[in-house]
Amino acid sequence: MFYSPSFLSSPIKLIDVVNSKLSNCLLLALYLLKNHLNIKPDGVYCDKKFRLKPINPCRNIKTLLKMVRKVIITGATGLLGRAVLEKFKSDSKWETLGLGFSRAGNELKKVDLTDKQATTKVINDFEPHIIIHCAAQRRPDICENEEEVTRQMNIEATATICDIAKTLGAFVIYISTDYVFDGTKPPYKPSDATNPLNKYGISKLEGEKVTLEIDHNNVVLRVPVLYGEIASLDESAVTILYEKVADNTKNCLMSHIEQKFPTNTADIAKVLELLCIEKLEDSKKVKGIFQWSGNEKFTKYEMSLRIGKVFKTSVDHVQAMTKADSVAKRPVDCQLDCSTTIEVIGCNPQTNFDDGIYKSISDFNNKSNN
Ligand SMILES: NC(=O)c1ccc[n+]([C@@H]2O[C@H](COP(=O)([O-])OP(=O)(O)OC[C@H]3O[C@@H](n4cnc5c(N)ncnc54)[C@H](OP(=O)(O)O)[C@@H]3O)[C@@H](O)[C@H]2O)c1
Repeated sequence: MFYSPSFLSSPIKLIDVVNSKLSNCLLLALYLLKNHLNIKPDGVYCDKKFRLKPINPCRNIKTLLKMVRKVIITGATGLLGRAVLEKFKSDSKWETLGLGFSRAGNELKKVDLTDKQATTKVINDFEPHIIIHCAAQRRPDICENEEEVTRQMNIEATATICDIAKTLGAFVIYISTDYVFDGTKPPYKPSDATNPLNKYGISKLEGEKVTLEIDHNNVVLRVPVLYGEIASLDESAVTILYEKVADNTKNCLMSHIEQKFPTNTADIAKVLELLCIEKLEDSKKVKGIFQWSGNEKFTKYEMSLRIGKVFKTSVDHVQAMTKADSVAKRPVDCQLDCSTTIEVIGCNPQTNFDDGIYKSISDFNNKSNN
């Protein structure tokens, strides 16, 4: 049996092989000692960002291979955080702790991330290797009116999390937005000039800056409008369209101005897991700004027509609106160039919009009817 380096990037498979045959175990141990781990002569090892731990490499190799990576997911009660937590929980190589606030319960720990002391305690107690920071105030019209609360959540809480992570030798992946751009020159590369048009975009850009200033080895992942497994139709700016599409007793106007790239939260969760695996393999390869986006472009009006089509409902009452009516100014087209991310993770997980939106809404309808 031949073990390629790509095979070795999957720790869970390693464990299976190690358990299966002594010769395999020795082969893998030799490979790991030589290429993967930095075994120090005094019997201390460190795997890139991991803390130093004493080890006898010969006796403890099995324990080492089984070492679980600890991941905190903030905003785990939210639209994206839920999908991320589910993805990481589904693989035993990750030990997860999901944090929530007003909706925390069951195994999700309640913490107000704007409370520095409480946040520090929760994170220090768990000692994560990775923090995926999804929690945010992310509704542009609320951010426009509640500047101080937005600043505390999107900037100060982010700084607190990054400071604690740094003291623990952990890294942070900060979830950001396409709204850091002004939408006039798409597609945008991660290094392109930012120019947010509204207070939400400004606060998220500041969050990006503190994340990378506190530790330039941290990661920022920018994403556009999201949909996926939902707790209510209004949780996503995409699924909320269904309410108006399904009610053909009233005419409705849908914006036909801004171009959107609806992105499935399950795809982002997969991208995040792969980025974490790559980062643990080679911390220098994965740092700084990355982007992820669905690859189909629609205005809200066009999305509504597609929703009508997949649910086989009339859309005669849906009309295109070509005049802006929101509180916060929105960029017209922030298409994100994802090529660097695809290169690093080696794949391009893209749920087709028709399939994804059908699943998201019909799963929700089924749950509500039961
Ligand atoms: N949704 C989108 O279309 C979209 C688009 C681009 C980028 N993003 C970015 O993606 C990330 C995830 O967004 P999302 O859509 O999942 O957001 P969401 O559904 O609104 O969830 C926000 C999360 O933040 C938590 N939270 C809010 N205030 C908190 C506090 N003071 N302390 C602790 N937790 C707090 C909420 O907890 P509780 O609910 O339990 O209070 C919830 O889990 C954000 O960074 C957002 O900026 C989202």
